[in-house]
Amino acid sequence: MATSSSSLSHAKRGRAVAVAAASSAAALLSFFLLVVVLVPQHALNSPISLSSDLSVPPSPPLPPPQAAALMRVAAEKPVSEAEAPGGRDLSMPPSPSPSPWPPSETPVAAVLAQEPAAAPPPESRERRCDLYQGRWERDEEGQYPLYHPGSCPYVDEAFSCQENGRRDLGYLRWRWKPHGCDLPRFNGTDFLERIRGKRLIFIGDSMNRNQFESMLCLLREALPDKSKMYETRGYKITKGRGYFIFKFVDYNCTVEFVRSHFLVREGTRVNGQGNSNQVLMIDRIDKSANRWRRADILVFNTGHWWTHGKTARGKNYYQEGDVVYPKLDAIEAYRKAMNTWGTWIDNNVDPAKSLIFYRGYSAAHFRGGDWDSGGTCNGETDPIKTGAFLESYPSKMKIVDEVINRLHVPVVLLNVTKLTNYRKDGHPSIYGKKLAEGEKVSKRRQDCSHWCVPGIPDSWNELIYASLVLKQHHPQSLR
Ligand SMILES: *[C@@H]1O[C@H](CO)[C@@H](O)[C@H](O)[C@H]1NC(C)=O
Ligand SMILES: *[C@@H]1O[C@H](CO)[C@@H](O)[C@H](O)[C@H]1NC(C)=O
Ligand SMILES: *[C@@H]1O[C@H](CO)[C@@H](O)[C@H](O)[C@H]1NC(C)=O
Repeated sequence: MATSSSSLSHAKRGRAVAVAAASSAAALLSFFLLVVVLVPQHALNSPISLSSDLSVPPSPPLPPPQAAALMRVAAEKPVSEAEAPGGRDLSMPPSPSPSPWPPSETPVAAVLAQEPAAAPPPESRERRCDLYQGRWERDEEGQYPLYHPGSCPYVDEAFSCQENGRRDLGYLRWRWKPHGCDLPRFNGTDFLERIRGKRLIFIGDSMNRNQFESMLCLLREALPDKSKMYETRGYKITKGRGYFIFKFVDYNCTVEFVRSHFLVREGTRVNGQGNSNQVLMIDRIDKSANRWRRADILVFNTGHWWTHGKTARGKNYYQEGDVVYPKLDAIEAYRKAMNTWGTWIDNNVDPAKSLIFYRGYSAAHFRGGDWDSGGTCNGETDPIKTGAFLESYPSKMKIVDEVINRLHVPVVLLNVTKLTNYRKDGHPSIYGKKLAEGEKVSKRRQDCSHWCVPGIPDSWNELIYASLVLKQHHPQSLR
């Protein structure tokens, strides 16, 4: 392990070194199913992908940390960080894309224990269990949901489906079952032990906030005394704010969220006529990067915002160096931005200390329209069972795969696209808003992009847990 670790620390000097280090590590470890998936993958030219949004509007100066007493105050400040320079409404990420899946409950340790302990045959890499190829199975053991709807104070209104009037519960009773193995049963106490003294941070758009809230709820469930976690400045989670830090007192750790829609920098530029317009600097990392730099576990995503109006049109919007492209295809811009992100990772992350995840594209399920044109998903109570939608893999994800593959720092792709493709039943749809007394649910504007919490994002966090468990058993695999 020391050898492997030090080898990798030199890896930045050259890809050849990285490949050699990874190959030797792989020779020792490849028989463990997830090892390949988790680390040496890019070096081995196996696919790994990540996705994230890095752009973040300028954030306000942070107030000094407040006493725990403040946490209860939940100072709800007016939106201090505009959602975006353009004041775009983010409540709905645009663009559907396919992908579903949830994890299951068998301990990874148990799965690993079943693996042969002898030297791995060379072909064993092909036999590894792909956690992301599988199916959703009915939870017959009553394990799910992992916390009761309405029990967790950190779910914001938009994802509180049951409190907003949703009545069916079947969508909460599925677990993800990879074809070749089982996921470890989520153990929040164990998770907190593993991140003791560390910073876990989610960086991305509102889909990542969705996952962040799920993580807070999963970990809260493990606390005998629920007052032992709090937002350090007393902020309540709303879509209007771009940075949250939750402290877990007994574990001396934090779980944070930083909003960054594109992972690269948003800005404004004054044109020849003296008008200023928004630009996206696809060759510069987002300003919020100073908040991620020293975190221990980073979970990125970006994707949904690349289909919004001016981002999709790409006219006089994308800037590289001093040049604003009169027109640039959004996919090309995405590729450049992801490369900017990847280069930042390689230059700023010490793989011996930090663990990087990229959470892949999460599917949307709009019928008869899109997020901004009347698409719907209400009345869906079951996952998709068959059809082409299940196999679709967005071109942006192929770019993510490519970028991760070329990096020297290992990035774990939480490849949730397929797993989420199945779950047309998991979105808030018409239950994204609390109803006033006597108000009727409106079918007009539906959220078929985000997910109810509890719900599908819990499974993404189970996948993170699975990765931590594996790392514990085979630390080399992450170096
Ligand atoms: C992610 O899953 C899709 C199937 O949904 C697959 O085609 C793709 O190769 C996977 N990516 C990686 C890097 O494993
Ligand atoms: C969860 O993890 C804790 C700490 O590692 C351990 O003591 C406990 O037995 C675990 N619970 C289950 C159900 O495995
Ligand atoms: C808490 O964790 C930080 C590192 O994040 C460390 O510097 C500090 O000493 C820890 N405090 C305690 C009481 O363990």
